[in-house]
Amino acid sequence: MDTSLKSTTFSGRCGISRTGLGARLLARPEDLPAPGDLEITEVAVPRPASGQVLVRNLFMSLDPGMLMLIAGESGLPMPRYELGEVMYGDAAGEVVASRDPSLVEGDLVTHRLGRREYAVAQAGLFRRVDRDAYPTPSTCLASGWSPNVGLMEAAELWPGDTVFVSSAAGATGAMAGQTARFKGATRVIGSAGSRDKAAYPTGRLGFDAPFDCHDGPIVDRLREAAPDGIDVCFDNVGGEQLSAAIEVINPHGRIAVCGALNRQSTAGPDSGPGDLLSVLGERLAVRGFTTGDHLERAAEFGAQFRAWLREGAIVHYEVVLDYGWGVVILVRAVIAFQRAGL
Ligand SMILES: NC(=O)c1ccc[n+]([C@@H]2O[C@H](COP(=O)([O-])OP(=O)(O)OC[C@H]3O[C@@H](n4cnc5c(N)ncnc54)[C@H](OP(=O)(O)O)[C@@H]3O)[C@@H](O)[C@H]2O)c1
Repeated sequence: MDTSLKSTTFSGRCGISRTGLGARLLARPEDLPAPGDLEITEVAVPRPASGQVLVRNLFMSLDPGMLMLIAGESGLPMPRYELGEVMYGDAAGEVVASRDPSLVEGDLVTHRLGRREYAVAQAGLFRRVDRDAYPTPSTCLASGWSPNVGLMEAAELWPGDTVFVSSAAGATGAMAGQTARFKGATRVIGSAGSRDKAAYPTGRLGFDAPFDCHDGPIVDRLREAAPDGIDVCFDNVGGEQLSAAIEVINPHGRIAVCGALNRQSTAGPDSGPGDLLSVLGERLAVRGFTTGDHLERAAEFGAQFRAWLREGAIVHYEVVLDYGWGVVILVRAVIAFQRAGL
């Protein structure tokens, strides 16, 4: 197989100037980022060396986790964004030149070198994706793996469990509730930021009991939705929602900590659980996890998840925005709902 770089494949903007667009962080905002904190600019695209590939990105996933990397928070399981550097993030793209036998031109790949038009790196940093396995190419960025790790590994879900998912209308929460059901949960409860939003996981995603987390004390709403308590909490939010879960959870309950939306999207102090005596008294397990955990199970789960998607068994909702600079931004539930006025 000829893996040498062909000039004809180094085409378009890149072929002329050896540059491509990339998004850089200019300043660390104290609150949500403003336009002046970021810039989209031309950055150099090196020719791939031996063992490397050149990928043209097609889809980039915008995730709330970026906010913590922009803020430069410490204690995260991944490096923060550095000022002046192009940001990284999940993306899907097409190989346009390869100098490694493992990938060929035209391959669809996922990787973490997003926020740029072209990515050049060692072939091992790209994961080849079977185009036919997904309903659409962008679907290969769907949030299936994190809910699986959180529910099955961190929370050790058992058939018959009652599960509470905070931020259930978000990309991860929506998948977590559906995955919990497929894995045998008998009752799935979800919170969302408005009554209309809470109707979405109940109607289309099959959650049993939704509640609006702004409708009075969250602990009261959770108790109403789970009169027999909860066994598992898949927590995307932290703060008052996590405190409520700890109050309502049954003895030996398990809490998978997925995210901290209450402080990712708003500045200010975290109003999370203070007194952890009930964690001790009720013998609760509280465990954080990341997408890099338990990768030995990824192939098996990936095959199952793709089958769910193809069969339409699992509902995946996404919004694709084209900003006209070649790379399409895949924005998931949060902006979709805001645009819908919910
Ligand atoms: N551990 C991992 O491996 C892993 C992997 C992927 C994602 N995550 C984390 O999982 C969480 C969810 O990610 P996602 O991609 O599903 O997000 P998303 O689709 O963007 O959903 C975000 C949702 O957050 C809720 N929200 C926004 N501000 C909030 C606030 N101040 N308090 C409470 N809720 C707020 C909104 O829902 P409502 O209006 O309904 O509240 C919104 O729909 C994030 O924390 C993310 O960083 C973790």
